[in-house]
Amino acid sequence: MTNLHEIIEPYVDIDGGLMPALHAIQEEEGYISKDAISELAKAFNYSNAEVLDVLTYYDDFTLEPLGRNIVRICRAEACQSLKSKELTDDLTSHFNLSLDETTADSKITLKEVFCLGNCALGPSVMINETVIGEADKSKVIKFLNEIDE
Ligand code: FES
Repeated sequence: MTNLHEIIEPYVDIDGGLMPALHAIQEEEGYISKDAISELAKAFNYSNAEVLDVLTYYDDFTLEPLGRNIVRICRAEACQSLKSKELTDDLTSHFNLSLDETTADSKITLKEVFCLGNCALGPSVMINETVIGEADKSKVIKFLNEIDE
C-alpha cells in the first residue's frame, strides 16, 4: 500500500506544492481519496474543503478510481452534428453506465470531452491515448476488446 505521506513529502516546502502533490497522488493511486485530501490538508495547512475546491476545479483529478480504459466521447458542436449524442446513448446503454461511471470489473470508464481536434472525422472518441474518428458502437467495442481482452 502506498504511503500518502511519502508521496506528499517532497512537495511540502515548495511554493505552490499542492498541485504537484495532487498530480503525484493521482499518478500513483489513480484518484484522490478522502484520506489523501486529509493528508494534503494537514501537510499544506489548508482545510479539507480548500483542498477539495482546488482539485474539483481541474479536470485532471478524480475522486473515484477510474477504469483501466478511459473512453472519452466528444460532445462538442462538430461531433454533436455527427451524432455523438446517439453514440453516447449507444455506449452508455451497452455498458450500462452513465458518463463518469466505471464498469464493475474496472475495465471501462466513460467520460465526455469537448473537442479532440478531429472534428472533420466525427464523431470522435479517445480511448486512453488513441483518437478514433467516425466512431460507432462496434468500432469502440472492437478497439476495447483488442487492447484489454
Ligand atoms: S468537435 Fe469533436 S473532435 Fe472537434
